[in-house]
Amino acid sequence: MILGIESSCDDSSVALLDIKDLKLLYHKKISQESEHSPFGGVVPELAARLHTKALPALLEEIKPNFKSIKAIAVTNEPGLSVSLIGGVSMAKALSVALNVPLIAVNHLVGHIYSLFLDCEERFPLGVLLVSGGHTMVLDIDAAGKISLLAGTSDDSFGESFDKVAKMMRLGYPGGVAVQNLARQCKNKERFKFTIPLLHDKRLEYSFSGLKNQVRLEIEKIKGQELSNDDMADICYAFENAACAHIMDKLAKIFKERSFKRFGIVGGASANLNLRSRIERLCLESGCELLLAPLEFCSDNAAMIARVGREKYLKGEFVKHNELNINPRVKV
Ligand code: KG4
Ligand code: ZN
Repeated sequence: MILGIESSCDDSSVALLDIKDLKLLYHKKISQESEHSPFGGVVPELAARLHTKALPALLEEIKPNFKSIKAIAVTNEPGLSVSLIGGVSMAKALSVALNVPLIAVNHLVGHIYSLFLDCEERFPLGVLLVSGGHTMVLDIDAAGKISLLAGTSDDSFGESFDKVAKMMRLGYPGGVAVQNLARQCKNKERFKFTIPLLHDKRLEYSFSGLKNQVRLEIEKIKGQELSNDDMADICYAFENAACAHIMDKLAKIFKERSFKRFGIVGGASANLNLRSRIERLCLESGCELLLAPLEFCSDNAAMIARVGREKYLKGEFVKHNELNINPRVKV
């Protein structure tokens, strides 16, 4: 089996995947959400400390399986440097102790493989990756080569939900809280936010302007306390504008390329408003839609082990002294 280790941000996760039949033999993640929540975002130094506690605890649970591990796949890019180091250091030490090779995994490629956890990969494929750190549309050709079609010039889709949530003191991460409030909206016409870059031909995302529109509306109400109705109305208008922004650029990309299949991955792909809009677009375009199971949309080690399995079969190993962390690299 392949041991997968993920620690690129605020989740410590370990997985064991059967190389032959892709059966997930073990998967667990220890999330740090409640520890970061009071700060409205991930505090790197705190994340690093929590990883050094959680990762060895997870490893302890799979000790009886050590003899069956054929290789160790670990996220080494991109992510928070102090978080990546935790997983990579543990992987290196374990690979020496067990005398098995190391496999370096790009976290974003991991998210793509969350679509194929229990089946063989299916390329060519278009992908929308939306998470707390990334917003990208990717094209993957039949040989598995990945090209970036659109990225974000500032905040990511998930991050904009987190920042709106922070303005309303809803805790971190804010995606689900904002989505749930949006569903309680009573006055759908009350706020109208401009969709970013609507008449701009560039295939690019930007969420910071939208976030500022929300901030200005909140400031207008302040003085009085924000009521649940105020927050619900703002969240509704914000979520719609954010999703419409994703869809505007995506519709243009769909026109340029006729994808046979399209997948949405990353923690924020759990957003139901976004999911239903993409379902409609795929249906209209005669394109097959692939979705990762909800449990594996957010960061997890199963997707890292899954990429590790492909690299294991191709013999793509990395030496200890050549395994470095790359906090900023993309795909
Ligand atoms: O992939 P992920 O677990 O971590 C990163 O790699 O960033 O994604 C977490 C992000 C957070 O920003 C969170 O607020 C967002 O995904 N998210 C959502 C929803 N569920 C999670 N954003 C919008 N709507 C949701 N339902
Ligand atoms: Zn992620």
